[in-house]
Amino acid sequence: MEDIKEFLAPRMSRFKPSASQMASARVRELVAEGRDIVKLTAGEPDFPTPDHAKAAALEVMARNEIRYTPINGTLEMRTAAQTKFRRDNNLDYELTQLTVGSGTKQVLFNALMATVGHGDEVIVPGPYWTSYPDMVQLAGGTPVFVPTEQNHQFKMRAEELDRAITKSTKWLMFSSPSNPTGATYDAEELRSIADVLLDHPHVHVLTDDVYEHLIYDGRTFHTLASLEPRLYERTITCNGVSKAYSMTGWRVGFAGGPAALITNLSKMQSQSTAGVSAVSQAAAIAVLEGPQGFVAERTANLQHRRDILYQFLNQAEGLSCTLPEGAMYIFCSCAGTIGKRTPDGTVIENDTDFTMYLLDSVGVAVVQGEAYGHSPYFRASFVAPEEDLHKGGQLIVEACAALN
Ligand SMILES: Cc1ncc(COP(=O)(O)O)c(C=O)c1O
Repeated sequence: MEDIKEFLAPRMSRFKPSASQMASARVRELVAEGRDIVKLTAGEPDFPTPDHAKAAALEVMARNEIRYTPINGTLEMRTAAQTKFRRDNNLDYELTQLTVGSGTKQVLFNALMATVGHGDEVIVPGPYWTSYPDMVQLAGGTPVFVPTEQNHQFKMRAEELDRAITKSTKWLMFSSPSNPTGATYDAEELRSIADVLLDHPHVHVLTDDVYEHLIYDGRTFHTLASLEPRLYERTITCNGVSKAYSMTGWRVGFAGGPAALITNLSKMQSQSTAGVSAVSQAAAIAVLEGPQGFVAERTANLQHRRDILYQFLNQAEGLSCTLPEGAMYIFCSCAGTIGKRTPDGTVIENDTDFTMYLLDSVGVAVVQGEAYGHSPYFRASFVAPEEDLHKGGQLIVEACAALN
């Protein structure tokens, strides 16, 4: 191909160069060279798929029920999502108000593709999950970022949301707990966001609740459509089995919302991937309808690992972080390292330099804040074996002490 850029559709130029992919490429290079790298980059829990989910998948295979499935999800799967929303969120959706996709990511993508076009604005609180702005831009819309601050636990204040809303605002894309910060809104904080939304009836809410069950220190999860029933008619509530049940590879997500909107999410699904695999849906039904006790045990284990990594990061010279309230990441400031010199004399100018320094000098991989639209920070995942958290944490402390 002579000039690939000429050949590609204009929409491909709307993707931002991915900072996190650049970092992963460097990790792969070092591993190929035989370096021992401590990876604090995982974006998925490391527990096994629950046995009852695997058994349900095997049963479907044994019965040979592996055909095309309904575009909006099997009746049993939508019933399981209905049960889950009622049980966990006090949200009542008819079966016609539910749809299923290949992961939460696909239902979010379907929602944006079905509703957003040129001139539409989508509010994205920052730091954000890298996919949000890319998806908005791919749909032809404009992401409007609302940066948040570490000293406010990376939570958007009501007045900041209010200021970002214009006549063109179509959606608020909202996620609590958040990736990368773990920010988890309590009822009062969410109430203040809901009050702003009530003043702007044209703004709809796309809420990504995928980290619902990864929430620490006895906190309670809240979601907008149930906290403020007057928002129910303009909210799509998205969730999935990836994080709660450690089932990322099964690719099952689902959404509840107004039937007229949900039908159009399914329409989008029909001309992309069609119905989700029958095997995956069977596994998802089993976990959504089965016993829930193990979820809290897993969360307690993650909280313990969070505490290990947090202790190290907060002792490191030049770093500062707040204890994340949810999700699986510590979003840590490296502002105190900027302008310092590494032992070989290189000046650390930004968070990419800092993360590359960690990788090259002590072999610890984290992701620079730039990838999430917020510098100078980095994201360290605490989904790693405890010995790696101790080793990686200690190496970060040593690397920071070697700067001057
Ligand atoms: C905020 C957020 N939403 C959605 C997803 C993807 O979820 P799923 O695996 O259900 O598509 C991720 C994965 O990292 C995420 O961080």
